[in-house]
Amino acid sequence: MDDAYEQRQEQLLRNPCTWLVTGVAGFIGSNLLETLLQLGQRVVGLDNFSTGYQHNLDEVRHRVGMEAWKKFHCIKGDIRELTVCHQACQGVDYVLHQAALGSVPRSIEDPINTNENNSTGFLHILVAARDARVHRFVYAASSSTYGDHPGLPKVEEKIGHPLSPYAVTKLVNELYAAVFARTYGFKSVGLRYFNIFGQRQDPEGAYAAVIPRWFAGLLKGEPVFINGDGETSRDFCFVDNCVQANILAATAGDAAADQVYNVAFGERSSLNELFTLIRDRVAERVPAAREVQPVYRDFRAGDVRHSLADIGKAEQLLGYKPRYSLRSGLDQAAAWYMHRFSS
Ligand SMILES: NC(=O)c1ccc[n+]([C@@H]2O[C@H](COP(=O)([O-])OP(=O)(O)OC[C@H]3O[C@@H](n4cnc5c(N)ncnc54)[C@H](O)[C@@H]3O)[C@@H](O)[C@H]2O)c1
Repeated sequence: MDDAYEQRQEQLLRNPCTWLVTGVAGFIGSNLLETLLQLGQRVVGLDNFSTGYQHNLDEVRHRVGMEAWKKFHCIKGDIRELTVCHQACQGVDYVLHQAALGSVPRSIEDPINTNENNSTGFLHILVAARDARVHRFVYAASSSTYGDHPGLPKVEEKIGHPLSPYAVTKLVNELYAAVFARTYGFKSVGLRYFNIFGQRQDPEGAYAAVIPRWFAGLLKGEPVFINGDGETSRDFCFVDNCVQANILAATAGDAAADQVYNVAFGERSSLNELFTLIRDRVAERVPAAREVQPVYRDFRAGDVRHSLADIGKAEQLLGYKPRYSLRSGLDQAAAWYMHRFSS
């Protein structure tokens, strides 16, 4: 028998729907867009291009072809404006809300801007989705919500105190979502992403995530830094698993709504292990990379030491079955970064 994801994909192919993807020009948003267009869906995208790029959308257009691309309508707009959110939600069946300012260090440097984008912007899109009576609202929550809770693996019900302004905003998202279910009967699904990686994750800039930054550094012959002793660990999750979770969450029955779920692979790897895995892949193209050693520097403020998800709840209630491990995901990502940095 087919798994839940295959079944939902077949249903969507037979019955195309209209989706709103906020943050569509970003890393995860553009991957959601690509899969939805490949499934013949109509997609409205909303992005202010603050950390997203037109070249991400151009790449999706290239990959899906012109016929599918015609079903995409992009609104250049800001979720900090309520009227824009109302306009974007019109006639939409499903909302996949990704727009936010990511990065713990960015939020420590500029908590006000992070709050406006991530908390106020979230409330706007939630109100607009409620008013438009969309069928399902799914939003990007975060593993940062576990904060200082020491338990491993992380289970959805047990969270600690937030360790950064970014984590506060993601917790606030969950609180608003729960209150909207109780107060207005508007049920949504929060997906607590653990470290997501893959094609189109931005390798540039001060706030780039570790995997794209290391690919870029090794491919360009620049130093690669590890914050701390390298034994910090994370549950790294390939973006296709994250796309699967979004589609399952949007199309699941009502019993699975008004919940938050961990979205991860369910295994933990240290930064030292990750460095070796990335270096091995880059060395196949750039042999000199094999000799590169990381440069260790201070631990970073706001970072948790270890992170590992229990994905049992998503498996049971959503039928989530991650298809890519860290290694097989890195194979895909390596091919993309090598292409990106070739010539
Ligand atoms: N990448 C991860 O590992 C990870 C982990 C946990 C949670 N998340 C969450 O997932 C979501 C997507 O993250 P990503 O990694 O794709 O980041 P990203 O920066 O690549 O994408 C975010 C997109 O949102 C857009 N955006 C930001 N503020 C906006 C605003 N006010 N109005 C309209 N558009 C706006 C940006 O331009 C960008 O295109 C975010 O909510 C993030 O907090 C990501």
